Amino acid sequence: MPIALGIETSCDDCSVSLVTDQAEVLFLSTQNQDALHCDFQGVVPELASRRHENQILPLIEQALKQVPLSKISLIASTNRPGLLGSLLVACLTAKTLSFAYDKPLVGVNHLEAHIFSSALFKSEQTKQQQAVKFPALAFVVSGGHSSLFNVQDVGKSILIASSRDDAAGEAFDKFARLLNYPWPGGKHIDQLALNGIYDSKNSFFTKIKTKDLSFSFSGIKSQAQRLLANKNLDWIKKHKKQLCIDYQHTIVDHLMDKLALAFESNTNYKQILVGGGVSANSLFRKRLMQWSKNRSIPCLFPQKEFCTDNGAMIAFLGLKYFLKGQTDDLNMLCSPQNLDSDFFIQNL
Ligand code: KG4
Ligand code: ZN
Repeated sequence: MPIALGIETSCDDCSVSLVTDQAEVLFLSTQNQDALHCDFQGVVPELASRRHENQILPLIEQALKQVPLSKISLIASTNRPGLLGSLLVACLTAKTLSFAYDKPLVGVNHLEAHIFSSALFKSEQTKQQQAVKFPALAFVVSGGHSSLFNVQDVGKSILIASSRDDAAGEAFDKFARLLNYPWPGGKHIDQLALNGIYDSKNSFFTKIKTKDLSFSFSGIKSQAQRLLANKNLDWIKKHKKQLCIDYQHTIVDHLMDKLALAFESNTNYKQILVGGGVSANSLFRKRLMQWSKNRSIPCLFPQKEFCTDNGAMIAFLGLKYFLKGQTDDLNMLCSPQNLDSDFFIQNL
């Protein structure tokens, strides 16, 4: 049974995991840096990479107490896209382990790893791997991306939609900031809006409309800024819950509108694959489940701990490439952007 050691440090989560080819997560440990970046309301790249440098080796030591290196088939590392200084920590660590212990090395695209994260399950759970069927319509909704892909196979996707401006997670975080929630605030909006009643006619926010498949979240962010600019604290306190309900609904409506449009333009999809931090959002999950049920199309979600950035999704996708015979050498690039030869850019 091949086992991969996966390392993720593309942004502000330092995460190490051990995963089998059956998507069983034998070990996962993630340290976020929320407290470090909170005062800046966003990730400070230099601070992030320095913290990764301190966090990474203890996490790897913990992992190797669970499974010795002799039983590990390969080392997988996120090598794109992300913050260069942060990515370098995972890449150099992975290269060093690969060189010192003569293990194959695989560089993984972070976005593609989110696409396949719904397959992951933890050893203590009875749940089995959810088999992925192609072609699939994948929806990656995170702090950095809101993208739809037509997925033909591992390494073969077509990007069909992305955001013109902010990502959905970013829109959640910026609104949470206006309401004084600690960064990243998406989960706080979710909690406050839970079980809330939405009435489109009386919503604080207008529907987001774009002509094509692309997403746009800068308009709702500006609406929120204008709305709250001249309101006093008492008003905000009184309307906070309804503001969160309406804001969340407007974002989720926009995500669902584009998903429906993408799905209608190609009826061959066998599954919907969802991934990224915002896929932990309760309303989004509820709406997706209902939508897929109505259309009798299976929708695969990651379990909550695999929605946000984690090393398990990197290990799992790294294993898929390894089993296809696609590994990297010590010249493996570490790139802030996707590569020209990347999984959704190459000719199919
Ligand atoms: O995938 P991720 O960990 O990092 C990126 O690759 O960007 O996503 C982080 C994003 C943050 O914007 C965070 O606020 C958002 O996911 N997020 C949520 C929820 N949990 C995390 N947004 C809305 N509702 C949630 N429950
Ligand atoms: Zn991510």
